[in-house]
Amino acid sequence: MPEATFHFPPDFKWGTATSAHQVEGNSTNNDWWAWEQGEGHIQDGQRSGLACNWWEQAEQDFDRAAELGQNSHRLSVDWSRIEPREGRFDAAALDRYRAMLRALRERSIEPMVTLHHFVNPLWLAEMGGWENPRAVPLFDRFVAHVVEALGEFCTLWCTINEPNIAVTMGQLFGLFPPGPRGFRAAMRAGRNLMRGHGAAYHRIHALQPQAQVGYAHNYHIIDPATRSPLDHWVASLQDRAFNETFLAAARGWWRLPLGFGPAWRLRRTLDWIGLNYYTRELVAFDHREAAQMFGRRFHPEDAELLDGGYGEFYPQGMDRALRRLARLGLPIYITENGIPDSDDDQRPRHLITHLHQVWKVIQNNVPVRGYYHWTLVDNFEWAAGWSLRFGLIALDVETQERTFRRSAYLYRDIVRANGITPQIIDEYAPELRPVLLPG
Ligand code: FCB
Repeated sequence: MPEATFHFPPDFKWGTATSAHQVEGNSTNNDWWAWEQGEGHIQDGQRSGLACNWWEQAEQDFDRAAELGQNSHRLSVDWSRIEPREGRFDAAALDRYRAMLRALRERSIEPMVTLHHFVNPLWLAEMGGWENPRAVPLFDRFVAHVVEALGEFCTLWCTINEPNIAVTMGQLFGLFPPGPRGFRAAMRAGRNLMRGHGAAYHRIHALQPQAQVGYAHNYHIIDPATRSPLDHWVASLQDRAFNETFLAAARGWWRLPLGFGPAWRLRRTLDWIGLNYYTRELVAFDHREAAQMFGRRFHPEDAELLDGGYGEFYPQGMDRALRRLARLGLPIYITENGIPDSDDDQRPRHLITHLHQVWKVIQNNVPVRGYYHWTLVDNFEWAAGWSLRFGLIALDVETQERTFRRSAYLYRDIVRANGITPQIIDEYAPELRPVLLPG
């Protein structure tokens, strides 16, 4: 009997996502490199070091992405390489990025370039980073240089990666640079990051009218732990603060929680919206958790957990996050989705179930245009160092040796079929057959 195949649209973009600092290696002039040197900042005192050595040899991993059939790749540029001193632009660094993008194009892989992915030049960090409003015009000028240099190879731009994570992990929780700075500082930095997005949007369009510009939004599912009104209240507060504030700012809406103020300059600064979806948490009211907005976060008792306490295996979150973003009425890219899973025992099921959710949402006419799996090769996972392995390809950090995980071939087969076929389910995750192909 013929069985269902979950087909994706014909021009769907299939790729992986990376960011400069996590893969390039030896980028010593930025705030993350400096942060890594501080005691207790990175798990087990690890460092990014040579990372995946992309500054020298990204092309070898581009070959691997091509071998896996990917037609797009999301990568970022490191501001500190391109503008090592304020106002001094390094032509050689821009040339290196040009060479990378050309190499992607030669392999029929369309680049999506992220202009800011967590990392700042040291000189900017020293003047207060994004807490200083000067960051906005400085970013604008930097973006102009990048678009002039790389525009020949790229029309798909992601301005800022996860401003909500950047300030929550940075200013608020102090686990990322600049360290703990408090709530007001977090709001200031968040506001300026969104202004930076707006400035970049207009700058890119002025230089490249056909550009498609968006930003990558981390959507974290936050559910009340019980039916109690206090749990509901705290969950909705956290949900609005974390998930909705930045989205609202990017839409230029007036009534913004947490004192973002009028954001009208940001109106119509999105051609698309990017979704980074990973996991969900439950939240219960707890008056002792003032720093966490009176919410204690945890995972359901029966949850399937991910490596290193990273979160819960929760594919329905993909559907829920996409539906929430669909309200913006914009094309959507899934700019990141993935799982830390060094032995690859959950990733095949993760890929199939999460992509099945994406497929379902597309059937409801939500315009999802592409999916970028995080990530191609294991890379430096910020404060978690090398402890979390998100790659389709495993990396031996000492020897730089790569080993394809089974999931790499699974992803290749999905991309080739432009869908999830019964054969793919049977080969890679037969336990899903009764769920996805009942009867
Ligand atoms: C996201 C970040 C990305 C990577 C993944 C696992 O929040 O954007 O750089 O760290 O998480």
